[in-house]
Amino acid sequence: MDKLLITGGRPLQGAVRISGAKNAALPVMAATLLAPGVHRLRNVPRLRDTQTFARVLELLGAKVVFEDHLLTIDTQSVNSVEAPYELVKTMRASIYVLGPLLARFGRAKVSLPGGCAWGPRPVNLHLAGLQAMGAALDIEHGYIVASNVKLKGATVGFDVVSVGATVQLMMAAVLAQGQTVLENVALEPDVTALGEVLVACGARIEGLGTRRLTIQGVSALRPIDATIIPDRIEAATFAAAAAMTRGKIRLEGVVPGHFEAALRKLEESGCAVQRGADSVGVSGPARPRAVNVVTQPFPGFPTDMQAQMIAVCALAGGTSVIEDTIYFDRFTHVPELARMGARIELKGNVAVVKGVDRLYGAQVMATDLRASASLVIAALAAEGETLIDRIYHLDRGYEALEKKLGALGAQIQRVN
Ligand code: EPU
Repeated sequence: MDKLLITGGRPLQGAVRISGAKNAALPVMAATLLAPGVHRLRNVPRLRDTQTFARVLELLGAKVVFEDHLLTIDTQSVNSVEAPYELVKTMRASIYVLGPLLARFGRAKVSLPGGCAWGPRPVNLHLAGLQAMGAALDIEHGYIVASNVKLKGATVGFDVVSVGATVQLMMAAVLAQGQTVLENVALEPDVTALGEVLVACGARIEGLGTRRLTIQGVSALRPIDATIIPDRIEAATFAAAAAMTRGKIRLEGVVPGHFEAALRKLEESGCAVQRGADSVGVSGPARPRAVNVVTQPFPGFPTDMQAQMIAVCALAGGTSVIEDTIYFDRFTHVPELARMGARIELKGNVAVVKGVDRLYGAQVMATDLRASASLVIAALAAEGETLIDRIYHLDRGYEALEKKLGALGAQIQRVN
């Protein structure tokens, strides 16, 4: 199993090109099921998750070709409606095929994802929304099963802001009969980007970028030809790495507004940030200042940056308080960071981080994608060598991470 060996202490310097966003690519890949034909997706990151989703589409009968970052998906030949447990359990976003399958074929058999490393992560809002649109869903042997479904427009109000449920219902509604109104939707750039892709294919969606979407169903959509937006979490992770290593880096190919909350927090912690049209310069301070963070749905501070921010605060002068209001149990990085000398006390979903003067290299274990990212950036700032085990988690969501960090001057190596 691959590991990462990092020798810390070098400030990151130079420019890094940010890849396409995993969480924007996955829903657009699912949306290709809505229209039979050949779809072209550009700037798709080469990640384990995009490969897993490609596999799900192939099992449904699609022909998928990855050439560099161009993904061509032919969904004319889709002839199955079953997404098996073996794949859905490895990547929850596989459940995105449910809405499109019901919309196009009127039937589906999609595994329930089950639990997640950091908590239950239910899909009740996805299911309730589809049911409100007329889909009779049964749960049989761990699968969501439906047949003879004719989706009809409905008004669905989400009591929790959910990226996944918004995306799921948006995809179902674009081909449903009549008008759907979705209230309290997620505003994450990935959601809005999907809406824009669907509109470019002939969908009728009003209110993108607001909490209320009004969707008039159409009878058919054209195939997708779209470019995936840059990965704001990858960008913010590199910015956090600069903050921890007294680095000076330029993030290229980004939309600065997509990670403004993270940039503001890093400024508060002492970073100098220059926002360009499609680039951001970040210079880290001699030592970060302590900051308090509460994760929120977009445009608030993202839960996907909580772990990395804890790493930054681990080295800060003073005590930081970091609360995750989206996922209460998403703290598996805390005991691993403690192995590197971090002083973090967990009280429920609140981490109290007492900054230390230095972190030390250690053997640590990656436990999920963003937890792994926090260990990597902590290792870049730590004294000595850190060996990070189970980095397949990182490969799910960070494209060529060690190459990009190496080009910025980090001493980082993948070992087997
Ligand atoms: N929720 C429910 N019921 C549902 C769906 C969600 O109660 O049916 C709750 C969740 O338990 C959570 C909150 O709603 O407390 C928000 O969850 P959301 O549905 O927005 O999360 P998701 O769609 O499953 C996406 C990203 C995650 C990211 C979250 C929050 C993708 C593929 N995944 O997940 O990304 O953390 O939104 O922003 O887009 C990652 O990239 O590392 C990652 C985990």
